[in-house]
Amino acid sequence: MSDSNKSGLSEVTLAAGDKNVVLPVQHPTLGAPCIDIARLPKETGCFTYDPGFTATASCKSAITYIDGDAGVLLYRGYPIEQLAEKSSFLEVAYLLMNGELPTPAEFSAFEHEVTHHTMMHERLKNFFQGFQYDAHPMAMLAGTTASLSAFYHDTLDLEDPEQRRLAAIRLLAKMPTLAAAAYRYSIGWPIRFPRNNLDYVNRFLHMMFEVPSEPLEMNPVVAKALDLLFILHADHEQNASTSTVRLVGSTGANPYASVAAGITALWGPAHGGANEAVLKMLAEIGTPDKVDAAVARAKDKNDSFRLMGFGHRVYKNFDPRAKIIREMTHKVLGELGVNDPLLDVALKLEEAALKDDYFVQRKLYPNVDFYSGIIYKALKIPTEMFTVMFAIGRTAGWVAHWLEQQEDPENKIGRPRQIYTGSASRDYVDADKR
Ligand code: CMC
Repeated sequence: MSDSNKSGLSEVTLAAGDKNVVLPVQHPTLGAPCIDIARLPKETGCFTYDPGFTATASCKSAITYIDGDAGVLLYRGYPIEQLAEKSSFLEVAYLLMNGELPTPAEFSAFEHEVTHHTMMHERLKNFFQGFQYDAHPMAMLAGTTASLSAFYHDTLDLEDPEQRRLAAIRLLAKMPTLAAAAYRYSIGWPIRFPRNNLDYVNRFLHMMFEVPSEPLEMNPVVAKALDLLFILHADHEQNASTSTVRLVGSTGANPYASVAAGITALWGPAHGGANEAVLKMLAEIGTPDKVDAAVARAKDKNDSFRLMGFGHRVYKNFDPRAKIIREMTHKVLGELGVNDPLLDVALKLEEAALKDDYFVQRKLYPNVDFYSGIIYKALKIPTEMFTVMFAIGRTAGWVAHWLEQQEDPENKIGRPRQIYTGSASRDYVDADKR
């Protein structure tokens, strides 16, 4: 982990034509220094160009820190490995939203409040009825999350910190209810109410799998594994979906609309949709002897095929979450007595890629999504629900970032510039002269 203050860099001088512009350098608590370019356009008339924001910090945040070279991930300063071992998802959600670990009394009050906001409005069920039976659950989750803004007018005054807090609690509390309802609707099962006598994860599992004909036995191995996956997915600083939540939030849009936008950003296969794509890829590869051919395809620049679950914008080392999930996969499959041939394909693929020059040179390691699909499958979560699972965990991070942004005195509407490559100004041509 680098301590940028030790670099001593306090300003950077940029020569722009015959003008020298002095740009201040900002120093984070941890990580690389940032050149503050806010005054650049005014002083030089130039913008900066950075497709995909690979070199641009869009905000200040005290929530999560990643050191991609060292493979480090901290939530509010706490290493992900310690949280994975000792904490619970709901405690992590409290930590992300409030900045500190809760005392036992604070946790109980938080858990009580979340539990008592899990119900969805009876009329919201009508939104599910409007979907085709085979709609993707991410489509239903995005649509119904956005619709929450039509039900909770009492938490839409963004100037009121208490209303903001309550909206964040509602999103965290209702996301599993909406997710389970989306699943049950898609398979034609009646939607279940949340049960207050169960904890966050078991309540979700109950809403997913309970059938009227027989009692559901809650399996502690399944609940523990899911809780851990939610912890690992809870936040990842300014990733595409969190940046989307912040971009929408920067306009003053309500938190339900902002988080719904985050859900749609998460859906893409380059982001949260990768866990679904990994499982499809492993099934397509089929057997370990076909792995070398898949690796060859992934390296071929004339083939659009990529190894799903490999590579990351920030990690140029092992994704620390992937290390935890890899270990957990063996444990969970062992404890549940599941023998999944796709695990053999995954292990062979990991081994082949990690010793292949193409992947070594580009520092492409397995990411969080590489193993999570195999665990979800062992937990009997259907493939179309994998990204929905990611969304439930990431809701903790989305609302934490939204809350932080609303209090940030430097928050401005997000509005990037562009390099215009179109036609220069020209006159309209009448239809008969074209
Ligand atoms: N398979 C084959 N080649 C790859 C892969 C891959 N999975 N990922 C990157 N590369 C190559 C890429 O072609 C490029 O090669 P070259 O330098 O010869 O042009 C080089 O590695 C750098 O890749 P990039 O696309 O410039 O890197 P990026 O930071 O823009 O993209 C990524 C990061 C995650 C989108 C990409 O690695 C990827 O598409 N991975 C597969 C999808 C995936 O697993 N996504 C989940 C990410 S983690 C969870 C989350 O964020 O939600």
